[in-house]
Amino acid sequence: MSKKIIAGNWKQNGTYKSSMSLAERIISSIHEDKHKHEIILFPPSLYLLSIQGLQKKKKVKLGSQNVSAYKNGAYTGEISASMLRDMKIDYCLVGHSERRHVLNETEKILSDKVSRLFENNINIIYCIGETLREYRQKKTKLVLRRQINRLIKSNQEYIKKQPKKIVIAYEPVWAIGTGLVPTLTELASIFNFIRCTIDKEDTKYSSIKVLYGGSVTPDNAASLMETSHMDGLLVGGASLISKKFIDICSTI
Ligand code: PGA
Repeated sequence: MSKKIIAGNWKQNGTYKSSMSLAERIISSIHEDKHKHEIILFPPSLYLLSIQGLQKKKKVKLGSQNVSAYKNGAYTGEISASMLRDMKIDYCLVGHSERRHVLNETEKILSDKVSRLFENNINIIYCIGETLREYRQKKTKLVLRRQINRLIKSNQEYIKKQPKKIVIAYEPVWAIGTGLVPTLTELASIFNFIRCTIDKEDTKYSSIKVLYGGSVTPDNAASLMETSHMDGLLVGGASLISKKFIDICSTI
């Protein structure tokens, strides 16, 4: 059975001191012999290397919350995919709803970011999800199909060669940071739909994992993970509290 993924997205939170101690507590809670999941932390970029230095043996993987859509050059303030590769960062998030909706990233920007990451051999967690309005209008599947197709079509050559480099995270925008989560019946239907939409494109795409994100807590993690075709969780708020994140990892 392939490994489940538990990812913690710390967003723009914490200080150097609090981030180091959070990472330390999470890393020390992982006992390799019994650890069956792949754990990925997404701290603020400034702290990535210090956190990387905490691990003698690699127990957790590290990811960047963002990457430039451009190759190296005159793009003040940006961090490129080749810099992430240079520093041995394993993963990068693309398409998170905060970047789509607050920072106005377009599909073109997201697809360029995916290309840059493939060029540099970095794994991608690509977020998709409907807004509250789309949910209320019962457009969830329509939106998800469009987002998945755009991702696959725009980077088809890369994805065909290395489908395993892409992980899709379904995060309903209305569930992020709100305490709301879809019902288990809704999730069963949506995960089945996402799986079929991906697999229909190419038989090789069955290796693309699909995560759920949005108000995951230690209390709901185990029941969420009973959803068929759910390969893991992307945790926001609860990943900032070591006990909660460790509990989520151990309940699965
Ligand atoms: P949340 O965030 O767990 O705080 O809802 C999830 C995310 O934004 O990835």
